[in-house]
Amino acid sequence: MKLNELIKIIKRLYREHIKRHLNRILLALVLSLVVAGSTASTAWLLDPAVKKIFIEQDKTLAWLIPIWIVLAFASKGISLYFARINIIKVSNIIGGELQKRIADVMLRADIETLDNRHSGKYISNIQFDCTAVQMLVGTGVLNLMKDSFSLIALIYLMFYQNWKLASFAIFMMPLAIFFAKNLGKRIGKVQGEAGELAGNFTSFLTEIFKASKMIRIYQKEEAEKKNAESFIDKLVKKNIKIGSVLIRATPIMETLTGFMIAGFIFYSGKLISAGELEINNFFSFLAAMMLAYQPIRSLATINIVAYQGAAAAKRIFVVTDNPIETKNDKNFPNLKIDKCNIKFENINFHYTNTKEKAVEKINFEIKGGSMTAFVGHSGAGKSTIINLLPRFYEPQEGKIFIDQQNIHNVSLYSLRRNISLVSQDVILFDDTVKNNIAYADPKASQSEIIEACKFAAADEFIDKLPDGYETFIGENGVRLSGGQKQRISIARAILKKSPIILLDEATSSLDSESEQIVQNAITNLTKNKTTLVIAHRLSTIHNAEQIFVLKNGFIIGSGNHDSLMKSSNEYKSLYEKQLK
Ligand SMILES: Nc1ncnc2c1ncn2[C@@H]1O[C@H](COP(=O)(O)OP(=O)(O)OP(=O)(O)O)[C@@H](O)[C@H]1O
Ligand SMILES: [Mg+2]
Repeated sequence: MKLNELIKIIKRLYREHIKRHLNRILLALVLSLVVAGSTASTAWLLDPAVKKIFIEQDKTLAWLIPIWIVLAFASKGISLYFARINIIKVSNIIGGELQKRIADVMLRADIETLDNRHSGKYISNIQFDCTAVQMLVGTGVLNLMKDSFSLIALIYLMFYQNWKLASFAIFMMPLAIFFAKNLGKRIGKVQGEAGELAGNFTSFLTEIFKASKMIRIYQKEEAEKKNAESFIDKLVKKNIKIGSVLIRATPIMETLTGFMIAGFIFYSGKLISAGELEINNFFSFLAAMMLAYQPIRSLATINIVAYQGAAAAKRIFVVTDNPIETKNDKNFPNLKIDKCNIKFENINFHYTNTKEKAVEKINFEIKGGSMTAFVGHSGAGKSTIINLLPRFYEPQEGKIFIDQQNIHNVSLYSLRRNISLVSQDVILFDDTVKNNIAYADPKASQSEIIEACKFAAADEFIDKLPDGYETFIGENGVRLSGGQKQRISIARAILKKSPIILLDEATSSLDSESEQIVQNAITNLTKNKTTLVIAHRLSTIHNAEQIFVLKNGFIIGSGNHDSLMKSSNEYKSLYEKQLK
């Protein structure tokens, strides 16, 4: 990372996050001045201490000076404490603000954007990168203020005690800065690589937890263990690298300090014998120089924190800049549902990461309140069509209407408010049964929830669970059977009371008894609703008023079951091979 890029990122952090907390930072700045003043006065006090107490043996000052020393140290400690408290608050709040920004982007992002980036990378942005920026704002800003003020005060004191000696010491300083300068750049690069690795590792971890059963049945424990080890080894290597680059400053700085002190003592000896330096000035000067060591070291390495934080901020900004959201104009009118007729007009759509169209020249009309089924081989484009209606994906060409209103020209909120979705793979939260169902309507009363469950034929089994509606169902409902999960997701869709239902029937077959129960639940869900269903079940097909047959993204036939059996060979073969 180049210096001007670093400055650009820090300026941006200042504008967007730090500026708001300027009062706390200014307070820390004032307190840093107190710290600097107190530090310098502790060194200065050695001058009168040596002269008045040791040489002149002044009785009053003999007890006054020790008191001043205590006061100086106490004032340094107290002001440093309050400066740190303020900075701790600011930096943690800013870290949190960045995390909120990423979380917000993730929640609003266009589904297609999320499809194209692994969730683990977002998690790593939230966890590691925000912490690095927090370090930059916290440690970086405070040390910059505190240490540069202290250094200025101490240098001033050094000149006050003896300008010749001070000039000599100042002459040594640029050397130290020269050695530390390249360190920051180097660390920024290594840190960037480590951040990338951490992101990949988090992705890997989320996957091995999700795939726990697959790993065991395909007996990939050894292979995955090797993968994990290789990830961890790479990370360990990078972190060792970061650690060792970080401390690379130590030997150089220590040796330089040695040179400085050696030269200083040699030169002081000459000045004292020439009568140009008093012993009391010498001690005070020595103290100031020793005290200057810490701020110099901290300032020389401050660019490391800065580069680390800036590299992390850069990764965060990549995510938060130009968040790709579904187009959602606040001024658009709400969708008004009348009969709930739906029309697809010349729809062409391809996923951004593929060239080939997923669906092509799609034209159809659906009468409100009826059930429409889509059938076709796997990959024919059935789920794609259904996903276009709530605008999870945007077609490149064509229009979709609900009651003559183009769904692109109504508010997204009102569009999605009117659609329920029961997806192919059931998605449940690690929460209670009740909360999973109430997700559709958090204000729903207990009796409304129970009613929805009765419709979904779920009430009976829920009552038998250990804590009834308050039972925790585990990650994605692991503690429930497949059919039970489906019925909970149906109850949730019922509770939403939306006029349009999208139903991507699960392909996994249930035994005929559960099949019947789930089927009844679906019949209750879709009664008098405009339903678009991807049918895998025979009974659904028979209930559908209209059926569309899809092949390779095209609609190649439509009608009801009886007419399609006569007119469409594709349908006939699908029916005979798959639906039966
Ligand atoms: N997120 C995606 N990114 C890229 N291509 C996709 C994506 N989802 C689906 N596709 C592709 O689009 C085509 C249609 O997929 P779709 O999911 O609509 O099929 P489907 O008819 O629902 O199949 P199934 O019965 O197996 O669920 C397929 O060729 C598939 O590879
Ligand atoms: Mg599908």
